[in-house]
Amino acid sequence: MVAPVTKAVIPAAGLGTRFLPATKAQPKEMLPVIDKPAIQYVVEEAVRAGIDDICIVTSSSKRSLEDHFDRNFELEHLLTSKGKDREKDDVVALAELADFHYVRQGEPLGLGHAVATARRHIGDSPFVVLLGDEFMAEGSGLLEGMIATHQEHGCSVLALMEVEGDEIARYGSADSEAFGDRLVKVNGVVEKPKPAEAPSNLAVMGRYVFTPQIFEHIARLTPGAGGELQLTDAIGTLLAEQQVLGFTFSEGRYDTGVVLDYLKVIVEMAAARPDIGPEFSAFLKDFVAKV
Ligand code: G1P
Repeated sequence: MVAPVTKAVIPAAGLGTRFLPATKAQPKEMLPVIDKPAIQYVVEEAVRAGIDDICIVTSSSKRSLEDHFDRNFELEHLLTSKGKDREKDDVVALAELADFHYVRQGEPLGLGHAVATARRHIGDSPFVVLLGDEFMAEGSGLLEGMIATHQEHGCSVLALMEVEGDEIARYGSADSEAFGDRLVKVNGVVEKPKPAEAPSNLAVMGRYVFTPQIFEHIARLTPGAGGELQLTDAIGTLLAEQQVLGFTFSEGRYDTGVVLDYLKVIVEMAAARPDIGPEFSAFLKDFVAKV
């Protein structure tokens, strides 16, 4: 029987240089998307898929991440004394979303290295990796589908989405063949290829289900694209030992990794919110008519 998947690793040790100076003294994962920090959407996505143990990979200046998913008695007491019970329940609930654990990545050696820092915590179980720069719409069912695929086939599963033109240079690119409904068999992966050299325009998005064998492949990594220890390269050698499947999807992804995409996510999500959406959409229409 295939073990259930209950553990997640969220790498959140990056410097966030694309968002400087906003990220000089606060983690990029804490930048708000309307009224929640970006990482909260990622954690909620994991919890919806049945994850109850979350290991966040942090680095120096990331303390506010830990505080966000912890109790804060002073704030709770203050909210209670002001009769703000709903707000109090919301902040308490954050600490109860899952069991949170933290490991530190002392040196910025790459995504593969960041995932490897969680090895001792994960042990010998399958686990998911969620990159904090992106999150999926509620109801997208992507992670749930990937975990179900892992449970059916017992192998690692990557989220894959077609991207246009030269955009593939920002991602891992998958060489694959048809396997089944929404599924492809992955034959190779190349990290941030030149568009002309990309095996396909199927990009690896930041959701992975891994068998624990991935750690052995990460341990053998040598520096790859950008001089970093690349998770993509470890997937490349894992493939020689085990099948890896790709779970394809085409919508419901919110990318907050670069400033322009981050802005688009906020506008899109604000327009869809029942509480502020109607007023915000009316404002947008007026605004667009003027520009
Ligand atoms: C990372 C991965 C890459 C993947 C991308 C998804 O790159 O290395 O394979 O396609 O995330 O967002 P990064 O965006 O950290 O440079």
